Amino acid sequence: MALDVAFEAQKTQQRLLLELDFSQLTVQQKLTYEQRFTLHFPALFEQLFPLYGHCFDLHYHLKMLLQSFIDFQKKKRPAQIKDKSEFWFESNKNVGIAVYVDLLADDLNSLIEKIPYFESLGVNYVHLMPLYLSPEGNSDGGYAISDYRTVAPTLGTNKDLKNLASALHKKGIRMVLDFVFNHTSDEHRWAQAAQSGDKEYQEYYYFLGEDEAAEYNRTVREIFPQVRRGSFTHYPKLNSHVWTTFNSFQWDLNYTNPAVFVAVVDEMLHLVLNGCDVLRLDALAFVWKEKGTVCENLPKAHNLIKAFKACLDIAAPQVVFKSEAIVHPDEVNKYIGADECTLSYNPLMMALLWESLATRKTSLLYQSLERSFQIPKHTTWVNYIRCHDDIGWLWDDAISERLGINGHGHRQFLNQFYTGQFDGSFAAGVPFQENPVNGDCRVCGTLASLAGVEKAVQANDPVLLDHALMRIRLLNGINFAMPGIPLLYQGDDLGVLNNNDYLSDTTKVDDSRWVHRKKITQQDFKLAEDLSAPQGKIARLIRDMIQIRKANPIFGATQFELMSLNSEHLFAFKRTSGEHTLLVIANLSEHRVSLAKPLSDLLGQHTAVDFLTDQNIDLLGLVAIEPLDILWLTQP
Ligand code: GLC
Ligand code: GLC
Repeated sequence: MALDVAFEAQKTQQRLLLELDFSQLTVQQKLTYEQRFTLHFPALFEQLFPLYGHCFDLHYHLKMLLQSFIDFQKKKRPAQIKDKSEFWFESNKNVGIAVYVDLLADDLNSLIEKIPYFESLGVNYVHLMPLYLSPEGNSDGGYAISDYRTVAPTLGTNKDLKNLASALHKKGIRMVLDFVFNHTSDEHRWAQAAQSGDKEYQEYYYFLGEDEAAEYNRTVREIFPQVRRGSFTHYPKLNSHVWTTFNSFQWDLNYTNPAVFVAVVDEMLHLVLNGCDVLRLDALAFVWKEKGTVCENLPKAHNLIKAFKACLDIAAPQVVFKSEAIVHPDEVNKYIGADECTLSYNPLMMALLWESLATRKTSLLYQSLERSFQIPKHTTWVNYIRCHDDIGWLWDDAISERLGINGHGHRQFLNQFYTGQFDGSFAAGVPFQENPVNGDCRVCGTLASLAGVEKAVQANDPVLLDHALMRIRLLNGINFAMPGIPLLYQGDDLGVLNNNDYLSDTTKVDDSRWVHRKKITQQDFKLAEDLSAPQGKIARLIRDMIQIRKANPIFGATQFELMSLNSEHLFAFKRTSGEHTLLVIANLSEHRVSLAKPLSDLLGQHTAVDFLTDQNIDLLGLVAIEPLDILWLTQP
């Protein structure tokens, strides 16, 4: 007879309620907790059961977990943000930026002094790149965490982080922190106990023999093939191969062990105590592994993430998850949902905007978004053009095949195009993690360098420079107008170019992502104020777009439609809310492109205003879109 999981959940819930110690809570706190517990425990149980139903100690772990949530209610957190709206992420007022604390400022305290800059830019969502204790030297930009409860001493103290959270909240700015739960650093106390031979902690990781490691390696993708072949690191002293998807000092956690889940939830709540509003689920595609599979995006990874979400809903319901799944688009979408991740990076749109700029064609972008852009109600894309990582060319090959594009060949072309190995390319990027066996590769570089500013300045060519600036305007024009939260990457708002300092730093030289992780200097800020410099022009256009977006609720409209315009160079979409419409139309080529029919047919009116130029436009007289131009059209 099959087990009735819902009934088991109910029984366990009743038993737990009797066993838990509420004595520390006020009557009101207890009531609130019980309400959330009753509401979300069934989901938690339902997700954990497939993972740990066979573990005889599951009840013990559940009890520990739920008691830790009760204790958590007593802990003090920094002042919360005033805006309590449940669906805040749907508003046109949202604009984000991702920053490294030590690259934008020096430390957490001096970052407080950058709040006026966030405000003047119009940003209200700040992702602070990992800032916890991590190994000296190479720590994968902080993504190798040695202690989730301690801020890196070079950046300040835990108290500084809480102060920063309060200061941001006072200004209505949300704070986003990373939840790096696929791996810890090899210096984390669990990893150290494991290294000293403690069996209990060896079970926190994957310690495998050579044959087993080889068996997994046969089906698993290599993420950092230039660091090491395969996904394991051999430790002769431990007589083991440890699972290390990324760098060898990043040890993958073993979630088949329920103790790991419970321990990591506890760390997650410590992150919440710092006052964050969003947790960015780092590398979430890799968290569940099974022999004979690719060990990415497995169904049980979803059980696990949904279980984390149910924990969050019980302990700290005002915090939401953002998914960082840089994988096949169908898989990206599976992490998005009310019961999993509320927000998600949109790597598909990011990659295909760059693809369209290189090919000057929009068919792959259209068809891919047509299939993947729709996500459930009350979930939101985080749209971006660049981030701290490389660009990977992840689209659905079934779609490119249909268009007569060979996926492998096209990726090779894009890599060559963006790393300056293709004649006539405007881009100055750098290759990342070339795979010696299958030729795979990804691309690094700042927005300005990839869009052509660097090459144009070098060639001292005003036409090339004009095109580069138009590309930056076009990319931002799409990013700020598509449904979702637009996310800037530090320095791209200031037109910062690639920086080669990393080449002379032994801890960075092997990781070309540092080419776009530059210390932002006073000089960068000054240049961005000089309207005769490309940097000044870029800074201005981005600021203008943010102002327009925030001033007009149409940029929060949920009704969205891609518009096909009978030209392979154009990209257009429409957003509608009641009587109001926004029609965005962009030309991704350096040529004038004629319109097959007047836009009045699409907007249902003869004249429009272009938000970007503030000009009235006679739609019947508009017969073509200028090179690399973008229009944000609305009713006059
Ligand atoms: C994420 C981060 C990336 C890091 C990796 C391992 O993808 O964005 O920077 O290298 O995870 O933590
Ligand atoms: C791969 C992974 C992604 C990670 C990136 C780092 O694309 O899928 O999670 O951020 O590598 O380069």
